Amino acid sequence: MSSSTAFDRNASRAERYDQLDLQCGPLLEDTDAVANQANFAAIVHAAFGWHWVGFYRVVGDELVLGPFQGPVACTRLQRGRGVCATAWERNEAVLVPNVDAFAGHIACSPLSRSEVVLPLRDAQGTVRAVFDIDSSTAGDFDAADVARLQGLLDAHAHRLIPEDNA
Ligand code: SME
Repeated sequence: MSSSTAFDRNASRAERYDQLDLQCGPLLEDTDAVANQANFAAIVHAAFGWHWVGFYRVVGDELVLGPFQGPVACTRLQRGRGVCATAWERNEAVLVPNVDAFAGHIACSPLSRSEVVLPLRDAQGTVRAVFDIDSSTAGDFDAADVARLQGLLDAHAHRLIPEDNA
C-alpha cells in the first residue's frame, strides 16, 4: 500500500477527484476496513482541506463516530434528526448548502457552514455507515461532488465495510 499522497496545488476540484480515483485503489487494498476508513478520510481531507471529513457507522439503531479527520465530533447520532441520520434513513446522499437552513442540523462545530453526507452501502444495498463532510464555506458542495464521492464510496465499499461492522 501507499504511505504518501500527492495533490497538485494548482489542480482543479475535478482534477483532485481524478487523483483520488487513482490513489484510492492502492491505498485501500488492506483487508482491515477500519484502517481503510481512516485512510479514506485522511486522503479526502488531504485532497480538499475540508473542515471535517469522516464516517459514522450504523450500530444498532444509531450512528456511532468512526475514523475521521478534523475537530472532535459528536460520538452518537440518533435516528430522526440531523443530516447524517437523514442520509442513512433515505439511503441517499444529502446535500446541505447552508446548515442553518436544514431543520434539525446537528452542529458538532460552529465553523461548519455547508455539508454533504453520503451512504456507504454493502453488496445488498444496506447502509452500513455514512460518510460526512463539513465545509467552513457556505455552498461548497454540488451535484458533481455528490457524484464523484458516491462513486468512490461505491467502488471501495467492499474495502470500507468491516465483516461485522465493528
Ligand atoms: N452535522 C451532522 C453531525 C455530524 S458533524 O457534522 C461531524 C448532522 O447533522 O448529522
